[in-house]
Amino acid sequence: MILVTGGAGYIGSHACVALLSAGEDVVVFDNFSNSSPKALDRVQAICGKPLAVVEGDVRDQAALEKALSEHGCTAVMHFAGLKSVQDSVAEPLEYYDQNVIGSHRLLRAMRATGVRKIVFSSSATVYGTPQFLPYTEQHPLKAVNPYGRTKLVIEEMLRDQHVSDPSWGIAILRYFNPVGAHESGLIGEDPKGVPNNLVPFVAQVAIGRRDRLNIWGNDYNTPDGTGVRDYIHVMDLADGHVSALKLLDTPQCFAVNLGTGAGSSVLDVIRAFEAASGRPIPYDIKPRRPGDIDAYYAATDYATRLLGWKAVRSLETMCADHWRWQSSNPNGYA
Ligand code: NAD
Ligand code: WQD
Repeated sequence: MILVTGGAGYIGSHACVALLSAGEDVVVFDNFSNSSPKALDRVQAICGKPLAVVEGDVRDQAALEKALSEHGCTAVMHFAGLKSVQDSVAEPLEYYDQNVIGSHRLLRAMRATGVRKIVFSSSATVYGTPQFLPYTEQHPLKAVNPYGRTKLVIEEMLRDQHVSDPSWGIAILRYFNPVGAHESGLIGEDPKGVPNNLVPFVAQVAIGRRDRLNIWGNDYNTPDGTGVRDYIHVMDLADGHVSALKLLDTPQCFAVNLGTGAGSSVLDVIRAFEAASGRPIPYDIKPRRPGDIDAYYAATDYATRLLGWKAVRSLETMCADHWRWQSSNPNGYA
């Protein structure tokens, strides 16, 4: 039985599909602060298999211990937390509380119940400003905003825990830019309010919820002047988690990139989304967004070697699947 914190969220719900499809049993632990229980109904519909749900906060150690022991959990996938760079600058204490304290309580609950395998959602943001590209796992770590620093602190806490007790199995997964949705169109990303991220915003323009996209700068040092990122299909990402979990049968601690290795510009994404949706994406060029970087993408060799995993879905598939979810659920789970 795998405890999936934040399992009702965007990436967590897709990971639940991948876990159930791989024959694992799942208990989701989520406070639904940024998600809907409907996502979990849909996960069960996709897989034709039930999962257990515990409503709770990851900062509640007693509730975690109860869930871990009552469900006989052998491993944890830890997605629960806050993820907006912008909000983390405005509300750093909230980010340290939910992300760092939440992870700390979770590790204590795991230690108390003898569960010693964890897959953690880290982020390419821990690399900070690129000193070289692609980012390899050896790139220096230097987060440049509070959100990134919470991820870095949690990574360090996990590494320290492994040094103190090498019987733990710890997989730190550094995601690049997850987009897309399960191919069924039943689950997908459902941001509250105005989306910060590119693809959800583009999808809402395509469906008519927003008029135009703002492109944050076209004077970057990139082939077409717009920002370049490594977009990865959320189901490829989810499959990467299952591969990482399998390795933890042998105690070890590793940090690995989950990306495709390919960079796409904002204009590449717009063109791919227009093709997938058959809808125009009108846009305006605006000044750069503070804190944005020209370009970054993943080195993928270590993931291939270590996990025997590779992202296989194209930008076209990411946009087609994201559009299927958006067009069949124009208002998300609402
Ligand atoms: P999400 O907001 O969709 O999912 C997070 C889930 O955790 C939600 O269901 C939310 O209700 C739950 N949650 C939040 N705080 C909680 C708490 N204190 N107790 C219990 N549950 C809580 O986000 P996501 O995009 O699925 O991201 C999942 C993880 O991956 C996060 O840790 C995020 O930082 C990390 N990550 C995301 C991205 C991305 O671009 N989406 C990139 C890199 C890393
Ligand atoms: C992508 C590109 C923007 C919106 C963020 C976090 C990162 C990680 C993933 C969690 C950039 C441009 C965007 C818009 C635009 N999250 N853009 N108009 O900034 O690469 O990464 O999410 O760990 O930590 O920082 O993703 O989707 O916001 O932006 O022009 O309305 O699209 O400038 O070049 P980002 P994004």
